[in-house]
Amino acid sequence: MDTSSRLVIPDVFVEVKHGKDAIKSKDEKTEATDPPKFTQPPLPWARDSLVNFLSAETINYHYDGHHKGYYDMLNALAAKDKKLAKMSLNDIVSQLPAGQAFNNGAQAWNHDFYWKSLSPKGGGDPSGEVGKMIIENWKTIDAFKKEFIQVSLNHFASGWTWLIQGKGRKLYIISLPNAENPLSKHSMKDEEGSKGHGGHPLLCLDLWEHAYYVDYRINREEYANRFWSYVNWGFANENVVTE
Ligand SMILES: [Fe+2]
Repeated sequence: MDTSSRLVIPDVFVEVKHGKDAIKSKDEKTEATDPPKFTQPPLPWARDSLVNFLSAETINYHYDGHHKGYYDMLNALAAKDKKLAKMSLNDIVSQLPAGQAFNNGAQAWNHDFYWKSLSPKGGGDPSGEVGKMIIENWKTIDAFKKEFIQVSLNHFASGWTWLIQGKGRKLYIISLPNAENPLSKHSMKDEEGSKGHGGHPLLCLDLWEHAYYVDYRINREEYANRFWSYVNWGFANENVVTE
């Protein structure tokens, strides 16, 4: 488990159950607001449709436990904070400083994005504009995949790997810790030094151990390799920004 996490609900503090009130943190029971401000979107595919990459067991724990937990905690915070309740999830991710509301909001957003980055009909070579831009930036698809996997392996502890679009047609592969997101202002650094923080996310890979431990134990490399079998290039193309 990731003991170095700064998040409010690190894996070690989460008790996973199924059904109502699935999450209890160590210190605080999360309760749904009535009605909840933020709604966890349904999964975009059947839970057993990615079994050559992720088992239904992993999806169940990940979606019903961890992902739902972030939404529950965000709703609990919004019930006590009118200003937060008026914000969109995108605003929370892009505008809030680091803290409890950002952490839970960003983790909710990041997982929404992660599920969409996968598809039972995915895989194969990158298509459309993303395919062209990958060749422009890396020369070969293999070189692109190799860097994506290496960035994922080099990332210490919990976080996310992101394929992002910087200025124009420049693409970057970066990893960010914990809940951090390329859209968040407080995580931005200068473009030169940070390889384009502040870019537009095209795809992401969850590097938290809860994303792969059931299926791969500590073998993050195998997890990152099999990602390509289901990566949703259509979604990546939807996220491309044309200026
Ligand atoms: Fe996750």
